[in-house]
Amino acid sequence: MSAKPPHILLAPMEGVVDPVIRELYSDLGGYDEMVTEFVRVTDKLNPDHIFQKYSPELLKGGKTKAGTPVALQLLGGQPQPLAENADAAIRLGAPAIDLNFGCPAKTVNRHDGGATLLKKPERLFDIISAVKRAADGRVPVCAKVRLGFEDKSLHKDIARAVNDAGAARLVIHARTKVEGYKPPAHWEYMAWMAEECSIPVYGNGDIWSVEDYQKCVEVSGLRNVALGRGAMARPNLALQIKALDAGKDLPHLGFEPLFKIWIRRFAADSFNHAGEKYALNRTKQWTKLLGRNYDQSVALFESIKRFRSYQDMSAVIHQDAPN
Ligand SMILES: Cc1cc2nc3c(=O)[nH]c(=O)nc-3n(C[C@H](O)[C@H](O)[C@H](O)COP(=O)(O)O)c2cc1C
Repeated sequence: MSAKPPHILLAPMEGVVDPVIRELYSDLGGYDEMVTEFVRVTDKLNPDHIFQKYSPELLKGGKTKAGTPVALQLLGGQPQPLAENADAAIRLGAPAIDLNFGCPAKTVNRHDGGATLLKKPERLFDIISAVKRAADGRVPVCAKVRLGFEDKSLHKDIARAVNDAGAARLVIHARTKVEGYKPPAHWEYMAWMAEECSIPVYGNGDIWSVEDYQKCVEVSGLRNVALGRGAMARPNLALQIKALDAGKDLPHLGFEPLFKIWIRRFAADSFNHAGEKYALNRTKQWTKLLGRNYDQSVALFESIKRFRSYQDMSAVIHQDAPN
């Protein structure tokens, strides 16, 4: 057992970790902080409603209802506009700014954002420095990176740039841009990058289970982590990791409560958040992701995947749980 429990972030995932999932996972517990999907920054200041769309939590003090702080993530390549957008988000109540230097999407990279910036670590330094100046100590400025773009040769320079610019936290997704999401995640590089840093460093990538977490800690030496797909596929993973750290064993969340409480709530909240199509798509997406760990969710996904009406889907998710 360690003195302080690990700090666990719900990793940002565009099109997946939306305000509905953040509220739900905040109620499920185990996550110390969450991050919005990225807000794109070009050369203009985004209007307030854009920040509030990505982070409705801004209207509630920058936290979920259960009190989990939600950092606002920005993605862009120009220091000044990023600084101005960060300032606006902070004024609106963002409790932290997170800068995305990991997005592999071609359109994003073509527009000088995300992982393409990893090719020149000095650009990370300039961006973080400018955003820090704008934040002026009001809130932490954090960064999320990969190991590099084409290859890993700059991994230490990337870590140093983030550290030296004074970021409050470095989250490392342990792959290059070119590696995309292909396993394995190269956790050993996180250890080498952390050696370059005096700021808190968080591990990320392919932590699907408590066993993966243990291996990741062994290899990287990092206890603090960000969980993305693993969190979506195993909703009580953060709680299980915290239990493990406290010397306890927390079983997997059973399908019955998952289905009867959380999936039903998720579908209804998604409907209220953005309407029928959204609720259908999101519920199909989550039940598919849960299928990695729950056979019953594979069956559930199969039975709802062709539905075009929320009413039809709702009828199925209000029956008994599939076996
Ligand atoms: C569908 C999807 C969307 C993502 N969107 C974002 C994003 O908006 N911002 C970001 O920094 N990372 C994003 N990521 C990367 C994740 O935060 C995380 O680094 C990656 O999935 C590896 O962690 P995992 O294996 O725990 O999922 C995304 C990943 C996925 C799969």
